[in-house]
Amino acid sequence: MNELTDFKSYIKNLIFRKYIPIYTPLKKREPKVLLEMTSAWKGLDLIIEDILDRFKIERKTCIEFGVEFGYSSVVFSNFFEQVKGVDTFEGDIHTGHKGDHFEDTKNRLSKFKNIELIRSDYRDWIVKDNSHYNFAHVDIVHNYKETYECGLWAAEHSDCTIFHDTVSFPEVRRALIDIAKTTGQKLYNYPYCFGLGILVKN
Ligand SMILES: C[S@@+](CC[C@H](N)C(=O)[O-])C[C@H]1O[C@@H](n2cnc3c(N)ncnc32)[C@H](O)[C@@H]1O
Repeated sequence: MNELTDFKSYIKNLIFRKYIPIYTPLKKREPKVLLEMTSAWKGLDLIIEDILDRFKIERKTCIEFGVEFGYSSVVFSNFFEQVKGVDTFEGDIHTGHKGDHFEDTKNRLSKFKNIELIRSDYRDWIVKDNSHYNFAHVDIVHNYKETYECGLWAAEHSDCTIFHDTVSFPEVRRALIDIAKTTGQKLYNYPYCFGLGILVKN
């Protein structure tokens, strides 16, 4: 990063903190089924129903990029008829390189019949999927380029897209601000549990 990029990033973070509306849930409700495991996603499960109600999101289809061990996929399986989870199941520079854990995750989630796991890089997936989803979740490697590319596709192919780690990763925040600008969608931020960005069509 050079000084100009640093400065741009600084300004965007300032904008994010000061001017992006904070998402305040009206209710917090735990989904019926959760995986018993440690996850950085814990706590966000309490506000998913609130988001779906607030923005009147249909509950048929959901796509998730970044499944890892399945915590967030199971949260979504409480609300949607069909959940697709796309991941390389290898980890990345931020979550750590975990080795191939596709079979492990598949076995752990095998009783959730509405979850379909897809072992794929998001780049290979988005060039061949033209479907529209009610809801999307982006929680892959937390670099600008990947978050922007995957997040833009998700925002253009769903009614509402959420992004994890907006507080802990400035690059995710920066990508999210740019996606909101490109799509004209409304952006909110929930500043807890490492941050959740919420993009909705107006
Ligand atoms: C933070 S973890 C996801 C955690 C999960 N959402 C949860 O909270 O239960 C990030 C995941 O993104 C995956 N990932 C990173 N880059 C990816 C890419 N280019 N395509 C698909 N998956 C990717 C990693 O393999 C890792 O499992």
